[in-house]
Amino acid sequence: MNWDQIYSHAKEWVNDAGARIRLSFDETLNIQTKSNANDLVTNMDKEIEQFFISKIRAVYPDHKILGEEGFGDTLESLDGVVWMIDPIDGTMNFIHQQRNFAISLGIYENGIGKIGLIYDVVHDELYHAKKGNGAYLNQKNLVPLKDTLVKESIIALNATWVMENHRIDHNLMIPLVKDSRGTRSYGSAALEMVFVATRRVDAYLSMRLSPWDVAAGAVIIEELGGVVTNLRGEKLNFLAQDSLFTANHGLHQSILKDYLKEGRW
Ligand code: IPD
Ligand code: CA
Ligand code: CA
Repeated sequence: MNWDQIYSHAKEWVNDAGARIRLSFDETLNIQTKSNANDLVTNMDKEIEQFFISKIRAVYPDHKILGEEGFGDTLESLDGVVWMIDPIDGTMNFIHQQRNFAISLGIYENGIGKIGLIYDVVHDELYHAKKGNGAYLNQKNLVPLKDTLVKESIIALNATWVMENHRIDHNLMIPLVKDSRGTRSYGSAALEMVFVATRRVDAYLSMRLSPWDVAAGAVIIEELGGVVTNLRGEKLNFLAQDSLFTANHGLHQSILKDYLKEGRW
């Protein structure tokens, strides 16, 4: 497998897709809803996913594709090379703000993350990593993550999970919010993951994400020595929805033990 060639194609296609998204800022979007009134999709989400699929199919016909908008394959296993694509992560932000969204592209081989790309289209910032080759923001090498204590950490977390909800006992989350230095919520899992990678935040927790939300970020964070699991501290399941808990190594251990009770819920 020529991973350098795949890496270079992926970067080229992500850049082209970003340029197309920037052009759409002057166009009228066609906005539809999916599972509920706040689950939005636009013509651009669909067009960008189809753009990636046509490129991948032309050059790598034996690779499989898992795309949020459903134009890819239906997968029953992660065998072979799988491209996990979120054409626009943070669609609500894309529609309402025209910022705070990203393209997220993770490439896995037999379930192992090989390449991760997250493109902040508005800032023209490409976060990227190839397993064993370091992680970068554009051309700049990102430095390995350092351990932090809860009291000096900023935690990315949506307020929904600190209210009563049916996924986690919110009483576990309240002390974490109280003890941390502060919390943030940006509305794009991919960007929240690159914020962990660049130490703008120290941890990110979410109760329910899909493989395409986290596939790229996981490669980038792990390349920097960070830890990526679900909220029970288990390996992620890239064939289904799962919770997500990512942080530097020391913070991950202490939050898991002291606040999430090592998944005993
Ligand atoms: C969403 C964003 C959001 C997260 C949601 C995701 P989308 O992705 O990542 O931050 O909280 O769970 O579904 O729908 O904008 O691609
Ligand atoms: Ca997403
Ligand atoms: Ca999306």
